[in-house]
Amino acid sequence: MAGVSVQAFRRQGRRYGAGLVCSEMVSCAGLQHRNERTLGYLRIASDEHPLAVQIFGSEPATMAAAARMVEDAGADLVDINFGCPVRKVTKTGAGATLLEDPDRACRIVSAVAEAIDVPVTVKMRRGLEDGSRACLEVGPRLVDAGAASLTLHPRSARQMYTGFADHSLTAELVERVEVPVVASGDITSHARAEAVLATTGASAVMVGRAAQGNPWALQEIVEGEPAQPTREEVVAELMLFIRETVRELGETRATSFLKKFYGWYLGRGRFPRQFKAELTQLPMIADVEQRLLIAAPGAADVLERLESELPVGDEIELDLPISIYGGG
Ligand SMILES: Cc1cc2nc3c(=O)[nH]c(=O)nc-3n(C[C@H](O)[C@H](O)[C@H](O)COP(=O)(O)O)c2cc1C
Repeated sequence: MAGVSVQAFRRQGRRYGAGLVCSEMVSCAGLQHRNERTLGYLRIASDEHPLAVQIFGSEPATMAAAARMVEDAGADLVDINFGCPVRKVTKTGAGATLLEDPDRACRIVSAVAEAIDVPVTVKMRRGLEDGSRACLEVGPRLVDAGAASLTLHPRSARQMYTGFADHSLTAELVERVEVPVVASGDITSHARAEAVLATTGASAVMVGRAAQGNPWALQEIVEGEPAQPTREEVVAELMLFIRETVRELGETRATSFLKKFYGWYLGRGRFPRQFKAELTQLPMIADVEQRLLIAAPGAADVLERLESELPVGDEIELDLPISIYGGG
């Protein structure tokens, strides 16, 4: 998820039971121009595997070159984005727009599949307009072009994140292709995951928003046992997330990036509402950490244990021209 799936998020997801994690979407044009921030998305830690890195773009040759860089960086899968509904992306002919241009979409998939040895997968929406069934026409063609798996988020691009994911389309897609289909959209609990798997025949579910500030949701989805974290556990996970994100993005970028996460972690009735507002006003990360520890002093011990369990010294596995540690 763009603006969410930083390395800290992915490592946390793996710790809480996710079988596969995915990067934010990475611009193939950004990789082509060796944009420093874009290259930063290719930083992979050893405890993230298996990891998919998702790329977006509209030119087959540029996408193929980007896929080679992603493979060299150590990704286990290269995923192609045919789902992004955001205008900044669709106006360049990338993302969900490609569902309306199946020939180009197929050329992209086959160029990428020919360029690399790791599997190529595709993530898509149902189509551009409400009620569209484009995914059912395009999906099988993408498989013929070389997609090893398809993930469907069955909302239209126009819907953005409103309404519901219509997983009856997921079931139809499963019927039409021989490769694994992953169901994305509104998977928030073990019960929901089981129901979607049973009614669609999908091979796996993908969890997005439910895991934001809530890795315990992943645990519940995987194990089926309610996972109720203590205040100390919540604060410790948030503090670890803050520290890892500062290391990854640098303090300036991390300070604004992290604000949305305070609400996600501290909401859900875990802390009073004004506490989140108070944290977002604090100018320095050190102040945020101090305030969190006042609210849950026992979190310090939990944090120490979490930090001691993380692998050290392997944060960067790739040799790329990233001049500033933190990706710029
Ligand atoms: C903030 C945000 C960023 C997202 N970024 C991406 C992305 O970069 N690539 C992608 O394939 N889907 C992206 N998505 C869509 C999710 O992968 C997922 O399909 C969608 O949120 C529905 O699943 P959910 O109900 O579990 O969140 C994003 C969703 C959100 C909310």
